[in-house]
Amino acid sequence: MNKTILITGAGTGIGAATARELAPGNRMILHYNTSKADAVALREELAPLCESVDLVGADLTTDIGCENLVDEIAGLLPALDVLVNNAGGMLERQSVKDLTWSHLADTFVLNAVSAMRLTSLCTGLLERGTNPCVVNVTSIAMRHGAPTATAYGASKAAVDSFTRGAAKELAPKIRVNAVAPGMIDTRFHARVTPQDMLRQFIENTPLGRIGDVTDVARTIRFLVESEFITGETIDCNGGFSMR
Ligand SMILES: NC(=O)c1ccc[n+]([C@@H]2O[C@H](COP(=O)([O-])OP(=O)(O)OC[C@H]3O[C@@H](n4cnc5c(N)ncnc54)[C@H](OP(=O)(O)O)[C@@H]3O)[C@@H](O)[C@H]2O)c1
Repeated sequence: MNKTILITGAGTGIGAATARELAPGNRMILHYNTSKADAVALREELAPLCESVDLVGADLTTDIGCENLVDEIAGLLPALDVLVNNAGGMLERQSVKDLTWSHLADTFVLNAVSAMRLTSLCTGLLERGTNPCVVNVTSIAMRHGAPTATAYGASKAAVDSFTRGAAKELAPKIRVNAVAPGMIDTRFHARVTPQDMLRQFIENTPLGRIGDVTDVARTIRFLVESEFITGETIDCNGGFSMR
């Protein structure tokens, strides 16, 4: 592809799989926050396949973290072709009756504010790119109503809405799309998904399994390569939720 690609949260899970999927022949910028060792190991693994691999560390829940990240990238490379806003997650489960201000604020900053701010900061670099695009990672939780994950689902819905608005505003130069993963096998669930919930999810998934990180990575690759798609969110959930 010969592209310059930034993936946030690239040290682990879906981000690392996306880095593996997109690496061959490209200039990769892998962002991490706490998983530096994983990011370093991934750089060693991908270096033989890529034009270049750079690591950038940042806490994307702060404005200064987002700004410093983009400044650092601008110092490394003159343009960006692909931004994958993957960093995010569910901080904890809270029922609607118990929602706290700090949980709501932290959840929205981690999942929505960070992706929107980073996209905004990257527009200059993307405008200098070739067929540039943004792919946001949202969630099935934004679509089907997820008990005890309402704040998380709503924060991903904000990114879904942002995807369409940004797609219109940044067209025709920059495409903006999203993938909405269903239940995907990553460390994400170790903390927040009990086994019986996991079982129920599989029972209600027509394809009869939870997703693998490569299922999502391939969907992201499809969106990067599809030059006539913008403002779209693609579900990757084994049929659990159909539109
Ligand atoms: N797994 C699922 O079933 C599922 C379903 C739908 C959507 N998703 C979404 O998919 C994305 C990736 O999740 P995953 O399942 O691959 O889990 P994961 O391995 O926990 O990945 C989350 C990534 O977000 C990064 N991150 C977290 N807090 C951050 C912060 N403050 N600043 C910068 N980066 C931060 C982490 O970086 P460090 O590790 O370096 O700190 C990590 O690489 C998330 O947006 C998640 O909401 C996952």
